[in-house]
Amino acid sequence: MEATARAQPNIALVKYWGKRDTSRNLPAVDSLSLTLADLHTDMRVRFDPSLTADELTVNGVEEPRLLGRVSRCLDDVAGRGRPAAAVDSRTNFPLGAGLASSASAFAALVVAAAAATGRDAGTAELASLAGHASGSAARSLYPGIVLLRAKAGECSGITVSSVAAPDEWPLRVVVAVTETKPKSRASGEAMEISRSTSPFYPRWVDEQPRDLEAALAAVRARDLAAVGRVAEHNCLKMHSVMWTSRPALVYWNAATVDCLETVRRLQAQGTEVFFTIDAGPQVKAVCTAAAEPVVRDALAATTGVQAVLTSGLGAGARVTGERC
Ligand code: DP6
Repeated sequence: MEATARAQPNIALVKYWGKRDTSRNLPAVDSLSLTLADLHTDMRVRFDPSLTADELTVNGVEEPRLLGRVSRCLDDVAGRGRPAAAVDSRTNFPLGAGLASSASAFAALVVAAAAATGRDAGTAELASLAGHASGSAARSLYPGIVLLRAKAGECSGITVSSVAAPDEWPLRVVVAVTETKPKSRASGEAMEISRSTSPFYPRWVDEQPRDLEAALAAVRARDLAAVGRVAEHNCLKMHSVMWTSRPALVYWNAATVDCLETVRRLQAQGTEVFFTIDAGPQVKAVCTAAAEPVVRDALAATTGVQAVLTSGLGAGARVTGERC
């Protein structure tokens, strides 16, 4: 009972920040994201009746701190009566630093666990299971540009779909890494702090449908500048909610601000690029393929940038190896 799956992180253009139901981990707002191609998590799950407890290694190192969340996710997929599992996760990018490692990890975990148990689940069901573990993980089940509707009805869960395949709009993402240490506070906990303390949180939730519809229209028109106007504003609103939380949630560093200036300078020169930032100090620049070299070089030359990663848009989570 063993399977391996691969999933890529996703970068939100219209962000998920805040939950409407913490026990089911349901987002308060809709979101729109890009599934990446070149950063990935490979997850091997082996259910083994001879094990007495679940085991987890991340990039070859035992990770007991993350085991509780992983075990709960395995219970969701395989049932509480399942055998214990050995889980081995490998990534080719820095963990926990705002590069959406939990999204690719839990997307890959549900796909591998379902395959290992022989559970015949469709993508929508797997997305719901992944979303229960980590809201943004639900989006990594789908390719290209992905829409997550937070509520289909009064009490139903999420609905996720791909609104453009990777080859229908081959955007590029340049990630400026300004810090590789894991962040101090997990997104889930930080969202609850924002919901209960930021005076801007209700307004953030109220304005989200407008941002989402504007972003969807811009995606349909393949209008990068229009997507960028919504995405940058939505990102800065989310960070305003974070900054006005108590305690203040400030994920940026000096290099983060310098990278924003770099993107502004490129835009002033006519380069087709916009920025977004998640719960970490990295800056993600979304651009056309033609603009990628100039964006990559400008961000790499920005003070405080430690590394630059580039990616196109890619596929949803999938099984890469199976052995029963
Ligand atoms: C800032 O999906 O990590 O990246 O559901 O609590 O696991 P949990 O949160 P998570 O939050 C992602 C927040 C974000 C924005 C986004 O990806 O939409």
